[in-house]
Amino acid sequence: MKQRMFLLERNYDHSDHGLATPAPLPTALAYRPGQPPTNHAGVLVTRPTVVCGIAGSLRRESWNLKLLRAMAVLAPDTIELRIAESLPRVPLFNEDLLGREPEGVTALRAEVAAADAVLVATPEYNGGTPGVLKNALDWLSLPRGASVLHRKPVALVGVTPGRLGTARSQFELRHTFIFTQSAVIPGPEVLLSNAAERFDADGRLIDPVAVALISRLWAELQTYTRLDQPKVVPPS
Ligand SMILES: Cc1cc2nc3c(=O)[nH]c(=O)nc-3n(C[C@H](O)[C@H](O)[C@H](O)COP(=O)(O)O)c2cc1C
Repeated sequence: MKQRMFLLERNYDHSDHGLATPAPLPTALAYRPGQPPTNHAGVLVTRPTVVCGIAGSLRRESWNLKLLRAMAVLAPDTIELRIAESLPRVPLFNEDLLGREPEGVTALRAEVAAADAVLVATPEYNGGTPGVLKNALDWLSLPRGASVLHRKPVALVGVTPGRLGTARSQFELRHTFIFTQSAVIPGPEVLLSNAAERFDADGRLIDPVAVALISRLWAELQTYTRLDQPKVVPPS
């Protein structure tokens, strides 16, 4: 896990943990990679922003899974991308099952709940969102108003062997996320067409335009959701 140490940009409320409240820290302290943040109150450790990556495909050689893995490499140090593993265990949505939720749904919900934001890499099928992904989002949309997706920042990307870069699938997803009141990042749109030309044999993203777009999307995700703020790990 990419655990990073940061200097705090704002004061941490020590009173919740029975610690003496230290004098105010200077504001806007710089992030110094590799150097532990110390002050007179001791070392404070912060964690990176956790993003749950969901590839909307069950295919072993999925381009969208490759894209998530490539995005993990391109993510800034302040972001930890965790790729969800439960999607293959999510059954078809059935309201009759609501009282006894399938294990795969509970597991996927936990993966999303543990994250500060969600990154969806979507294929496109017949001009729309893949059923496997829409199905999972229908499960996660419940309970209505208390969904793990409620107000969750969501970034969308997609890659396809086709020509339109999953534009239609992503457009549908934006609509779906209205119903969970998720905060879908407006842009840039990462619409990757002609998938085979974007990656090398080792799954590295070799398209400089795509790399630049992804870097901008990571930055937007942080800016729009203020995820660039350090996440304080409370002293134990
Ligand atoms: C039934 C079917 C419909 C498809 N429809 C589209 C489509 O509308 N647009 C598109 O770009 N690709 C379409 N494709 C191609 C998929 O994008 C391609 O199979 C892709 O690799 C799936 O994503 P993955 O690699 O992440 O599994 C379709 C493929 C199938 C099998």
